[in-house]
Amino acid sequence: METSAKKTVIANWKMNPQTWAEAEQILDFVNDYLESRNEKEFSLVFCPPFVFLEEVGKILKTSHFEHEASLGAQDIFWEDSGADTGEVSGPMLSKLGVQYVIVGHSERRWKLGESDDVVNKKLKAVLRNEMIPVVCVGERVRDDSFKEVLKEQVEKTFAGLSHDELERCIIAYEPVWAISTNPNARPDTPESAIESIKIIRDFLTFNFQLSTFNFLYGGSVTSKNVADFIRQKEIDGVLVGGASVNKEEFVKILSLIK
Ligand code: PGA
Repeated sequence: METSAKKTVIANWKMNPQTWAEAEQILDFVNDYLESRNEKEFSLVFCPPFVFLEEVGKILKTSHFEHEASLGAQDIFWEDSGADTGEVSGPMLSKLGVQYVIVGHSERRWKLGESDDVVNKKLKAVLRNEMIPVVCVGERVRDDSFKEVLKEQVEKTFAGLSHDELERCIIAYEPVWAISTNPNARPDTPESAIESIKIIRDFLTFNFQLSTFNFLYGGSVTSKNVADFIRQKEIDGVLVGGASVNKEEFVKILSLIK
């Protein structure tokens, strides 16, 4: 949403922290920070592992998080009910107060083999259950083919969605080669992130006549580079992974969102 002044910051905790006590410490620390800051130019979303969702949800309804932070999930199953061992459905998430769901994260695409088709089904499950999908897309390597790779991924990921459904999506551009868990990760530059965002935007504008977008950048976002990304008008927020479970670093990131 290029018109929205408020930036979105999504904390993707991934499979961290290891204990609820540590999770509480992160939330307490961020809560104290929010208390000390009058103007908040961001909307905050916490995406903890499934096992912490309910407790995080309770904390977000209290103190300074109230009206400031929302609950998000890191994944969803595409069916709403059934015999699906290990899976978590949209109705289960929505009953817990989950408002955002990440789909298509590169760790699921590449480590667990989730195809564009699976991501597409999960995306539709999020929409069907009236939550907001945070749809991750991004090339694995920045070589000569990256534009075609991105277009194909976007085409398959969003296949069959209506214009209105697409407007409800947040699109997180996450170049896989820049994600901190990649052993050779190096942060992207705002210029090349914008080049990719434009490719995705033009594709969606042409194919879905979409004119309103909400693009996040994710890929080794830290307090050192967040300001460079966030000041770009094409970038509406950030999806922070590794740095979001380091409480001091995460609060530093928040302090730089203007
Ligand atoms: P990172 O992860 O910030 O640790 O690179 C981003 C993400 O994977 O969502």
